[in-house]
Amino acid sequence: AGVFTHDPGFTSTSSCESTITFIDGEKGQLLHRGYPIDQLAAKSHYLEVCYLLLYGELPTAAQMEDFEYRVTHHSMLHDQMQYFFRGFRRDAHPMAIIVGVMGAMSAFYHDSTDITDPWQREVASIRMIAKMPTIVAWAFKYSMGMPFIYPRNDLDYAGNFLRMCFAVPAEEYEVDPILARAMDRIFTLHADHEQNASTSTVRLASSSGANPFACIAAGAACLWGPAHGGANEACLMMLREIGTVDRIPEFIARAKDKDDPFRLMGFGHRVYKNVDPRAKVLKASADEVLDLMGIHNNPTLQVAKELEKQALEDPYFAEKKLFPNVDFYSGIILEAMGFPTSMFTPIFALSRTVGWISQWKEQLSDPEHKIGRPRQLYTGAPYRDYVEVEERG
Ligand code: CMC
Repeated sequence: AGVFTHDPGFTSTSSCESTITFIDGEKGQLLHRGYPIDQLAAKSHYLEVCYLLLYGELPTAAQMEDFEYRVTHHSMLHDQMQYFFRGFRRDAHPMAIIVGVMGAMSAFYHDSTDITDPWQREVASIRMIAKMPTIVAWAFKYSMGMPFIYPRNDLDYAGNFLRMCFAVPAEEYEVDPILARAMDRIFTLHADHEQNASTSTVRLASSSGANPFACIAAGAACLWGPAHGGANEACLMMLREIGTVDRIPEFIARAKDKDDPFRLMGFGHRVYKNVDPRAKVLKASADEVLDLMGIHNNPTLQVAKELEKQALEDPYFAEKKLFPNVDFYSGIILEAMGFPTSMFTPIFALSRTVGWISQWKEQLSDPEHKIGRPRQLYTGAPYRDYVEVEERG
């Protein structure tokens, strides 16, 4: 502390102490409150992981029931919120709508601005986790030109989200439990990832004491970029562009060429220098979901698997320790479920909301937290006197 270091991209700067998530990048290990992500993905479910992230321990059955009740009974959006959706161009990217609507929630829940009140913090947390599926599903419906579907409290979190995305008014919609399970697993795998760019953005925004809904909107804006949450969309576009396995060597050569800005999307990670444990779970899940949907010999999945194999055998990727990350297989699963690519990052944002909120709560409960204010190395012009316009050359 107090020593000035220049660290662009914060590659070696710790910004906070945290007890939420631990990553061992060399081992490829991800722990939430100590529990490994593969066990949580296999045995737990998203809302239980939300509870764990928010409160630090796995819930008892009674605590879980109470938490689920609170989340499912806050899922409705105020009717006026529809005007925000309808104000967007009809071809707006769902992420643009989500960033806008989440930010606008700060006007609806101005009470939450009192972040010194633990009760307000608690209510704001539940509201965001509860309302995010409705916001994301409505952004999707709006971008498709379809009517909004209201949340149903009797369905589980993932099932309710799928219904709000795919049901059509006046028609029956049965939630497929296997699809709901796969959706829930995607939510679980994306729930938190310690101080990534979007979470750090939330913490920085909140360090000034800003309204939590505005802070989460800032996090969602950061997530949108292709180097972060936008990578799943970019990855599927890339796999489609490659198209057939015979074209893979050409794209691997481009990724290695320093004069070509092309990168293998869904490959590489700032922290993991081994396979991202979330990618392992998703690879297995991709086979399962495609089988369920009756999709066999899917060309995109074939290209993905062969691309992964060839890249892992290539010395360039081995030397730089570039392995598939969470975004490599998630897009294939989401596409098989019927989501367009523009919905991939919104689903990531939905899942990550709990991580952002848990980190926000942790920061506020730290008595030593202060406003985030990085320093800089100034490389501009030295002192000079103002020049009148007629004297400028
Ligand atoms: N394809 C080809 N080369 C790569 C790739 C890639 N995907 N990723 C990194 N490299 C090279 C890079 O050119 C650099 O080479 P050199 O040292 O010769 O200049 C070296 O590996 C280190 O890369 P870096 O950009 O300095 O590393 P970083 O930690 O700043 O970047 C990253 C991490 C995730 C932004 C980067 O690996 C990347 O752009 N990957 C593709 C996008 C992607 O999949 N993002 C999702 C990240 S995981 C989920 C999430 O955060 O949302």
